[in-house]
Amino acid sequence: MSTIPMLQFALDFITLPPAIAVASKTAPHVDIFEIGTPLCKAAGLEAISAIREVCPDNLILADFKTPDVGWLEAKMAFDAGADLMTVIGGAPMATVESALKTADEYGKEILMELTGVRDIIAYAKEWRQVGVEWMVYHRGWDEEASNRQWSQDDLDTIQRLIDMGFKVTATGGLTNDSIPFFQNIPVTALITGRAIHAAKDSVASAMQIRSTIHRLWGGPRPDNLSSKGNSSDIDSTAKAIRWGISEMDLLLTTDGTDCPGCDTPGQFCQGSQTAIFAPDGINVDDLVSAIEQIMGPSNAFGKVNHAAFYLDPAQVTNFTPAGVIQLLTATGNALNGLGHRVDLNAGIATANQVLGN
Ligand code: 5RP
Repeated sequence: MSTIPMLQFALDFITLPPAIAVASKTAPHVDIFEIGTPLCKAAGLEAISAIREVCPDNLILADFKTPDVGWLEAKMAFDAGADLMTVIGGAPMATVESALKTADEYGKEILMELTGVRDIIAYAKEWRQVGVEWMVYHRGWDEEASNRQWSQDDLDTIQRLIDMGFKVTATGGLTNDSIPFFQNIPVTALITGRAIHAAKDSVASAMQIRSTIHRLWGGPRPDNLSSKGNSSDIDSTAKAIRWGISEMDLLLTTDGTDCPGCDTPGQFCQGSQTAIFAPDGINVDDLVSAIEQIMGPSNAFGKVNHAAFYLDPAQVTNFTPAGVIQLLTATGNALNGLGHRVDLNAGIATANQVLGN
């Protein structure tokens, strides 16, 4: 199964208030907020710290496109609350290395920004040698305005970079309609700015783009899964919950970011507890108490944070597969009761399939 690319939302504003407003609304539907270069220049480090404050659960990237004094700009970005920052591809290797050293000290990341780099693969070899891991493959705004189109050459280069071991993020005028262009490539993140902040409804646009990404990279649906048969062990019931919930079109989360999918290398799904984003418009406290009204008090469900709740089949009293299905049913009915329609039958069918029922 493929890893699902993260959605990065570029806050390309020239004042801070509209950036804060749109970031706080879209936070549950976005993985990484980019403090866009114009905003970095207009509002400086305050932009990073303000978005960090209103979006504590998102990753934050400072798009400094640093050309010199790498260590200082990296330190400034990380001290202000960024998790990632960009260095421009044309920067001297000394700048790259100094930013990288600071990032290593902070346990954060730098990304090479490829705008204007003509011989990407040759540079990439040198960056790889000094330990760069991430890069931003970018069709710049001016290039777009002069009619540069995305092409198969771009995909080939991105794939080569990934084959060299880089995590590649891609950006430049991407929209919900152009996302499928990248669908055969395991990019780490897809970045959209105008497609979200200039949309009539930014929240709806972020949700739509993220759901397109999940649909395209989400891997095989549960009916392609090899069932673990009649096993009633915790792993299998946790998996039944995860697949049942996904079939109900709810998004799983790992530490506040989107779940990258079952069987992903790195063991994202440890243990039996599954965290799930509450659908837009559903208050997590209301949802948890609605499940409690159906199930009675239990540690098998609860609140994770303002955006997410959890289900933990291992905590179902008198644990059995039937009890696990009851937990899923209670969740679906609670959501339906709160006005968010889910396809409970599809979720239950999938869960039963995973359980071998
Ligand atoms: C411009 C940028 C933008 O942040 C990036 O291009 C994403 O914005 P959009 O989706 O609107 O193109 O770095 O230099």
